[in-house]
Amino acid sequence: MEAPALALEGVAVDRAEVPVVHDVALEAAPGEVTVVLGANGAGKTTLMDGIAGLARVKSGTVRLGGTAIERLAPYKRARAGLGYVEQARTTFRTLTVEQNLLVSQRGDGDLATVYRLFPELDKRRGLQAGHLSGGEQQMVVLGRALVSAPKVVLIDEMSLGLAPLVVRRLMTTVGELAGMGIAVVLIEQFANLALDVGTSAHVLRKGRIVFSGPCAELRGDERRLHRLYFGGAPSAGGPRSDGAEPGGAEGAEPGGATPPPAEREAR
Ligand SMILES: Nc1ncnc2c1ncn2[C@@H]1O[C@H](COP(=O)(O)OP(=O)(O)OP(=O)(O)O)[C@@H](O)[C@H]1O
Ligand SMILES: [Mg+2]
Repeated sequence: MEAPALALEGVAVDRAEVPVVHDVALEAAPGEVTVVLGANGAGKTTLMDGIAGLARVKSGTVRLGGTAIERLAPYKRARAGLGYVEQARTTFRTLTVEQNLLVSQRGDGDLATVYRLFPELDKRRGLQAGHLSGGEQQMVVLGRALVSAPKVVLIDEMSLGLAPLVVRRLMTTVGELAGMGIAVVLIEQFANLALDVGTSAHVLRKGRIVFSGPCAELRGDERRLHRLYFGGAPSAGGPRSDGAEPGGAEGAEPGGATPPPAEREAR
């Protein structure tokens, strides 16, 4: 494994003065997908916001290519090579596909790379993004992160609301991003799809890392994942496996979501 492109040590992040993320250590290597899993409300987005500068890192260090960035403004972190595909990020609907990419372009960022990864977008360069399918819009959102030529890309639940087939297609691209030498940090509700494309995994529960190890160790082990997500013995409402419908609430985290209907439960 190469030296980490992103390295966190003892990171704590608050939300509205409430401690949410505690003492997180995590590394992401170039050319690899590092998966971050956890139930609704576990603190995944808060952690990503802390890395990107949208939430304040209260203590600990965030290093990008060896340089501490946890006190930099978000745009400076982006300029230093950090791309962030935020949860529920959308396109500029009235701009064309190409305009969406151009407004995010920076440095060595290359639209041709995006069109190569997403031939669907190549064919629709002149179309308003609002007219694209949900999957194609997510491709534009990913493309916008790529045209800033990032060294590290954080992707927070890009599968939200998309059909499983489309999610699989996007996962293939995530693997290709890593293949280009980018360090990808992937948060995903479809745990198995993420574990298939990932190298190492971290599971967050109540803002703390409860597992760090190879993805292979968790792949297909629904019971273990469930225990890691919620603690205790397996019951209804575990991590979502591929093939289930996305978009619903999952899990029985205290203060969190209601358990999903039976047909959405993990196998
Ligand atoms: N802006 C906010 N102000 C106050 N509390 C917040 C805010 N955003 C999130 N929280 C709280 O922080 C905790 C972690 O939320 P977060 O969104 O980071 O979890 P998550 O793991 O990303 O969940 P999900 O899987 O639903 O996206 C939750 O208890 C949530 O209620
Ligand atoms: Mg989230």
